[in-house]
Amino acid sequence: MSLVPKSQSRPPVAVRVSGVTKTYGAGDGRTIALKGVDFETATGELHLVIGPSGCGKTTLLSVVAGTLAWDSGDIEVLGTRLNGLPDAAMAAFRGRHIGFIFQQFNLIPTLDLTENVSVPLLLAGVGRTAAEDRARAVLERVGLGDRARRRPRDLSGGQQQRVAIARALVHEPRLIICDEPTSALDSRTGHTIMEILAGVARSPERCVIIVTHDPRTYGFADRITEMEDGRVRQVLNAQDIQNFLATHR
Ligand SMILES: Nc1ncnc2c1ncn2[C@@H]1O[C@H](COP(=O)(O)OP(=O)(O)OP(=O)(O)O)[C@@H](O)[C@H]1O
Ligand SMILES: [Mg+2]
Repeated sequence: MSLVPKSQSRPPVAVRVSGVTKTYGAGDGRTIALKGVDFETATGELHLVIGPSGCGKTTLLSVVAGTLAWDSGDIEVLGTRLNGLPDAAMAAFRGRHIGFIFQQFNLIPTLDLTENVSVPLLLAGVGRTAAEDRARAVLERVGLGDRARRRPRDLSGGQQQRVAIARALVHEPRLIICDEPTSALDSRTGHTIMEILAGVARSPERCVIIVTHDPRTYGFADRITEMEDGRVRQVLNAQDIQNFLATHR
């Protein structure tokens, strides 16, 4: 039993980015996308990253996910230091611990929903029958159990994004990274998607980071990092967010 009262114990850090820089290209075509970014998020947290187009949001998500090399600074994800991690170890870490959700769902059109959702498990070496059982259970959780054998083209945008969420969750990753998951959806459907993601983030083991342009998502956030021109402009905690929402109603 822990001797630290719950109210005093801080949730563990899930992601810590310190002084990270990233430059694309060279010479005249050079773009400095990250100019020394510090970013921290805890487990159990739904953390939004906002800021104008081109400010470096997707670049930040990509370095945290280990899909993009950065120039300098330190990145730690779920207690693992990503600096200098060999490619194969990085890929294994990502496959085990990170789930991705994108603006354009990225489902495979020739596979049915169960098969689409099974993919991360098959890649992890789980057998087909066990993977499909697990996929169907997660499809149930996002309200699509009755469509398990349909193809993505038979679904609405919101339903396709729910399939993408199921696929991102099926291997029970601890970090879920979402790049504008609601921007291709109408506002009601976007709200449903945010409710599902907020439910995922409530688990003390997990953490959800969402890049968004949509102010209607702010009410779901535990923390908001605002970026501007490759830097963090400000970090809003839960109280700041409530104050912001109260004055912008
Ligand atoms: N592969 C690339 N090659 C060259 N420059 C790039 C590349 N990817 C991004 N950039 C540049 O880096 C900067 C940051 O891009 P990034 O995609 O991170 O912005 P963003 O905040 O996600 O923007 P948006 O809201 O439009 O998605 C931009 O100036 C962009 O043009
Ligand atoms: Mg982007």
